[in-house]
Parts: sequence; structure tokens; C-alpha cells
Amino acid sequence: MGAQALQQRKKVILDVDTGSDDAIAIMLAALSPELDVLGITVTWGNRPVGNCVENTLRVLGLLGKENEIPVYKGCPQPMVRYLTKQRNGALEKDGISVWKDGKEFSIHPAYLDLPPAKIKARASHACSYLVETLLRAEDKITIIPVGPPTNLAMAIRMEPSIITRMEEVVFMGGAVGMGNITPCAEANFYHDPEAAKIIIDSGVPCRIIGLNATHSAELDLEDAASLRALKTPAARLAASLLEMRIEALGVMGDGNGHSDAVHDALAVASVIMPEVITDMRRSRCDIDVNGGAADGQLIVDTRIRHEKDGLPNIQVAYKADKEMFFGLLCDRLGCCHTKI
Ligand code: RIB
Ligand code: CA
Repeated sequence: MGAQALQQRKKVILDVDTGSDDAIAIMLAALSPELDVLGITVTWGNRPVGNCVENTLRVLGLLGKENEIPVYKGCPQPMVRYLTKQRNGALEKDGISVWKDGKEFSIHPAYLDLPPAKIKARASHACSYLVETLLRAEDKITIIPVGPPTNLAMAIRMEPSIITRMEEVVFMGGAVGMGNITPCAEANFYHDPEAAKIIIDSGVPCRIIGLNATHSAELDLEDAASLRALKTPAARLAASLLEMRIEALGVMGDGNGHSDAVHDALAVASVIMPEVITDMRRSRCDIDVNGGAADGQLIVDTRIRHEKDGLPNIQVAYKADKEMFFGLLCDRLGCCHTKI
């Protein structure tokens, strides 16, 4: 890569709760020359934060990039969610794993089936790393939260001026008119709705890659076979994770037994190649933080187009191009490192 191309690489920080689809997102980001992955901050979510850190390091180890991309452990729980007593979780569905015939089927195993990490996370806390990196950066940085967005919201509370240092925030979170963890809410925003609201209300430019877009670009078992046929460690891991998700959802009585969304990887893909999102609309948005049936719901004001007043800077994705997304995944996960 030439000096000019290197300079033009978009500087990003991923914020993950690894996680099967997080693992694919990390590989896509780390193997894409358009992105300069400055660091990965880790939060709680799919599993406790310690597991998510270990899984993140395992994925980087598979790519031989564990000494190149620093990993920082972040918050172990949401900002304030569990202080609100009426949040009884009555409508909540734990979709992570089920047991059948003595076997666990999980869309996010406690530990990814990879060799244990050889190194540990860096000593700084993820929130301190975010604040310090954003304050000292010459270029603006894009933050990609694909778990509960606790770390970034905490960093904004610690040092609000970091808002001006972000190019944009590209979330995997939320949904319009649907949910996965409750009928109304997507898991990442549901798990820390105050954090999502703090970021969205901060004025930082945001793109929301939610369930509408991710489910419009589901990958299926044939896609998994095509990935496996690429014979690289990254593509083989992505194939196994996709198959694992589809099988687990089938056992849970969820999904269609044939395909599933790879949510977090689509958020990363949209930073590399914005045209992968084929229906993006700009709206005023809010997050329900009232603790009732709609807790954590992304509220999108579809009544008015706000293009003129310049106020709302939230872009919401409704649809993605599956072929473009899958082509990008194959291209990046299928080359750039040793075949086995
Ligand atoms: O709702 C999908 C999101 O929840 C993804 O980020 C997945 O990894 C889980 O965290
Ligand atoms: Ca995630």
C-alpha cells in the first residue's frame, strides 16, 4: 500500500462484546486496508466483559494481529439500567443459548473455539483509552460500537469535548418496528438504553445499522460453505460461526434454520463501503429509557423530513445489499493471510 493510500485509511475504534458476529466484524475490519483499526475496546453484553476480552484477543491471535491492534477492557455492566426497579424483564428473551439432549446450543459461546489468547488486554481502561485517543488524535476518528454502547457513553460523560473529535459513530443497534430481545427493542440498545441515548443526544453524527438492515442481508448455509471453501483461517472461522448461529437459532425455535443476520459485520462493512446500505434515511431519533414495555426501543420520527433544519444527524439504515456485503466478506476474509 502506497504512502498516500496509507494516509487515507479511515481511523476507527471498534467497541465490541465478542460474540460470534463481533468476531466476524473484527476480522473484516482488521483485514480491510481501507481501515486503520487504532484499537478495540470491549464491553459486557453477549457474555461478561472478561469473556468478551478473551474472545477478542483469540480472534486477533488467529489473524496474527494481537500485538498490532491493542485491546482495552471496558465496563462490566450498564450505566444505570439495573437501578430502575420497574425494569423487570418480563418481555425479555434470553436468546444466547439453550440446552438440548445434554448439549449447549449457543449463538454466542462463552469462549470462541480458538486457541487461548497469548497476551492480555492493555492496562488502561477502555473509557480512558477512548478519551485520551480522541483528545490527542490529529484526524477525527470513527467509533463503531457493536455491543451495548456503555464505554462510549461513559467516555462522553468523562470528557464531553471528545464529541468534536469523532468523525461519526456507526452503531450496530436498534430497529424500526421490530425487536429481538423484546418485541420492541434490539439487544444492544436494550442492554444500555441510557448509554445509547447519551450518544444519540450528544450531537455527534450517528449512523444506526439496526435489525432492519442486518436481516435484509442475511447469510445462509450455502454462503457458509462458500466461505469455508476459501480455506483461510478467517473465512473458516466465519463459516463455523455462521453455521453455529443458524443451528442454535433453529434449536431455540427462532430463525428459519437456513440463514441469519451477521449484524456487527454489516456495521463494519458500512464504514468500509457505505453503498452496502441501500436504504438510509435521516431522522430525529430517541431511545425509550422509561423501563416499561418499550424499554430500550429506538424511536425514529418518520413523520417529518428534517433535511432543512440541520438538527437531526441520525441516519437510520433500513436495507442492505446482501451480495455486496457477502462479496466484501469473501474478499477480505478470503485473502491477506496464510491459507491452511
Ligand atoms: O442484536 C444484535 C446484537 O446483539 C449484535 O451486536 C450481537 O453481537 C449482540 O450483541
Ligand atoms: Ca455485538
